[in-house]
Amino acid sequence: MNRKTKGMYKNLTSYGDSGFSIFLRKAFIKGMGYSEEMLSKPIIGITNTYSDYNPCHGNVPDLIKSVKSGILASGAIPLEFPTITIHESFAYPTSMYLRNLMSIDTEEMLRAQPMDACVLIGGCDKTVPAQIMGAFSADIPAIQLVTGPMLTGSHKGERVGACTDCRRYWAKFRAEEIDENEINEVNNQLVPTVGTCGVMGTASTMALITEALGMMVTNGASAPAVSAERRRIAEETGRIAVEIANKSYKPKDFLTIKNFQNALTILSAIGGSTNGIVHLTAMAGRLGIDINLDDFDQMTKNTPMIVDLKPSGSGYMEDLFKSGGLPRILNEMKEYLHLDAMTVSGISLREIIDKNNFDWPQQVIRKTKDPIFDKGSIAVLNGNLAPGSAIIKQSAASKELLVHEGIVEVFEDLEDLANRIDSEDLNVTKDSILLLRNIGPLGAPGMPEAGLIPIPKKLAKLGVKDMVRISDGRMSGTASGTIVLHVCPEAAAGGNLNIVESGDIIKLDVYKRLIELKLTDDEIKLRHDNKKNKKSVKRRGYNKIFFDSVLQADKGVDFEATIMRSCNHDIELQIHN
Ligand code: FES
Repeated sequence: MNRKTKGMYKNLTSYGDSGFSIFLRKAFIKGMGYSEEMLSKPIIGITNTYSDYNPCHGNVPDLIKSVKSGILASGAIPLEFPTITIHESFAYPTSMYLRNLMSIDTEEMLRAQPMDACVLIGGCDKTVPAQIMGAFSADIPAIQLVTGPMLTGSHKGERVGACTDCRRYWAKFRAEEIDENEINEVNNQLVPTVGTCGVMGTASTMALITEALGMMVTNGASAPAVSAERRRIAEETGRIAVEIANKSYKPKDFLTIKNFQNALTILSAIGGSTNGIVHLTAMAGRLGIDINLDDFDQMTKNTPMIVDLKPSGSGYMEDLFKSGGLPRILNEMKEYLHLDAMTVSGISLREIIDKNNFDWPQQVIRKTKDPIFDKGSIAVLNGNLAPGSAIIKQSAASKELLVHEGIVEVFEDLEDLANRIDSEDLNVTKDSILLLRNIGPLGAPGMPEAGLIPIPKKLAKLGVKDMVRISDGRMSGTASGTIVLHVCPEAAAGGNLNIVESGDIIKLDVYKRLIELKLTDDEIKLRHDNKKNKKSVKRRGYNKIFFDSVLQADKGVDFEATIMRSCNHDIELQIHN
């Protein structure tokens, strides 16, 4: 290895004299107390995404200590540096609006600073995809570490955890089943420790599919944030980071279409968040791999969902960890996976399965012959309301609503929804369909997780728990209901969602993968012709970059300028019959 192109010598600042550049760099870094000998070693960068605004990353300082131990013990020098961090509840207007900004920040810091490999420490929903998108584009050896799930709390003897139970208890409060004192008591129990949401929400989904993709150490996804095991995983991550630095082993050296197919299969098998599709599409796009949603639907149509976690099932991530975590899921799903796919640790999925023993009893990971849900947990819909596609998490929907035709009540945007949803005059029955538009990538902007339109109060009080709800937005992975999401093209981009009127009829048939507005093509065209254009808005800064460049949900909501388009290998998905 030529050390003069590695470590401190990488990415020298331009002064027109490389000798002076390294002289100056060393002079400054020695101000931190490093010796010449330490500075001659490989450098491993560590992203520090700790923030007082991000409780999901509250253990990052501890994890960094353990990562550094692994790096130092393996003969390299760890250098941590800050990047943007994003928490779901502390990101205005939405965390999705900022995901691409975090990805650009991560990419450019990986590129600008000298490092032979990097450890990406993320966890909260958008952080892991943002980091991986950035690392793929920076094209350096990289490994993901997640902060891990929080533990569960307890309310009146019932186990509770963010955030399926947040939504469930809030729905009870809206329906006046519990009072203000009780909702305040629950509020203290939902997030009892630092770490990511403990159900199969987006953070858990991204952790598990990132491990399945091969970007994490074995069984790195599910250990609780506050466990000793999480610290050992961090130490091992540091050790592997030095190995990939020494071999210059980059993601593109081992990630192929097969790895992405495995991640999609696991997304379906775990009943993962619908957000997982958007993020995986964006991540693949950074390597020039195109994920076709119709192919995804075909591939996962008969993929059993075998993990019994909320919101589709009943357990929490700490239960999944005790049950064997992802390696055990891989073992159960092996006939559906490409077992020769390699991982960042330099071993294949087959070797991971063979190394582990899965003979103890547990309740969370089912056999494929005894699934929680026997068909793909996420279905891709098409039809004149969503010519570009829409999706539904059918495993978390009400079975009796999977085929439903109803009269639509349209909400123009979030403000209209807030103003009218609880009105006694709202013209809805339990069979109505609620449609919310202008919450897509451009619409809100940033595609907020507002697709879980609340049940109108007057119906909630009558005991209505679920209705068909349609939008161009997203939904938290922790939520459930018969919710059609990601309608493409979105209303703000001139999609047919934009011309639906209250009183129209929509037909949903998940078995036929259909979402149809009962109007003729001519009627739809006439409505578009009569629709007034919205006033253009003056924009600046990141807001302008976002509006000028963001793509629709079926392209991962990435920016046109950051996606890679040099490869043509459309993903060939394996169909399981
Ligand atoms: Fe961070 Fe749920 S809010 S993972």
